[in-house]
Amino acid sequence: MTTTDTRIAFIRGQFVPLAEAVIPVMDRGFLFGDGVYEVTAVIEGRLVDDTPHLARLARSLAEIDIPNPFAAPEWTAIEKELMRRNGLRNGLIYIQVTRGVAERAFAYADGLAPTVVLFPQFQPVQYSPLTKTGARIITLPDQRWTRCDIKSTSLLAQVMAKHAVSQAGAHEAWMTRGDQITEGASSTAYIVTAGGDVITRDLSPAVLPGITRQTILKIARARGLTIVERPFTRAEALAATEAFYTSASTIAIPVATIDGHPIGDREPGPVFQDLYAAYMRDLMDLPEAWPAEDGHG
Ligand code: PDD
Repeated sequence: MTTTDTRIAFIRGQFVPLAEAVIPVMDRGFLFGDGVYEVTAVIEGRLVDDTPHLARLARSLAEIDIPNPFAAPEWTAIEKELMRRNGLRNGLIYIQVTRGVAERAFAYADGLAPTVVLFPQFQPVQYSPLTKTGARIITLPDQRWTRCDIKSTSLLAQVMAKHAVSQAGAHEAWMTRGDQITEGASSTAYIVTAGGDVITRDLSPAVLPGITRQTILKIARARGLTIVERPFTRAEALAATEAFYTSASTIAIPVATIDGHPIGDREPGPVFQDLYAAYMRDLMDLPEAWPAEDGHG
């Protein structure tokens, strides 16, 4: 963010310039990381997978006993208005809800008003150059808590992992518990076996239930691929014919190397290419959330 930032945010009930948006120091999100978040992609004016993202937000809030401040249609109306005010056609919408403002004490009182923040990020989501070259992955221990199914804003383990990624000149970390890979630092991990099966870890508190995962698996099944939802090891990943990862902020990225070992023939493999093309085709069939206007990129 810079002082010339012209983005508009939604904060505590109002649309305001992001540069002027402030949160009280006593907000429990600031003091305790006591909150949850969502990241939703906007591609060519389409709000991608909005309904399941809002359903996951509702679930995350319920799991940590924060009342959901809005019904799904109200959330969508705020997102669309944010897109309109920012001219957001390609990028991300970030949503955060914290428990609210109170005197600092670990235990919380009932009846706090949740703090709601939304802002846009202008970064192209689709057609990353990595979809052609593949990404470099490093593996490192998964240092998170035991409720990774909640999209918590307490992200210290991922901050550390992503710093290691950038120090290593890599693109993403795949995190391990014992010899098994749980998921990416901010993505869902998949491998493809020699027999053509797609393997990704089954849903449990060990991983975030990825929304892009849900969509990609639906597409993969419709295309006749066999999906096996089970834990897989680092050794299996190194021996895979293909590997890839998905998230709202990247959609899908093929893996070129894991800890320096080439995966498959290093080119994006046929399974990845087929799924990615199908994903983008399906997406373009969706209506635009807000029609294109002159002067907006
Ligand atoms: N992260 N696993 C983790 C740990 C994640 O943080 C994410 C997404 C995913 C993929 O979920 P989805 O397909 O619903 O985006 C899996 C977002 C993009 C982020 O934190 O920026």
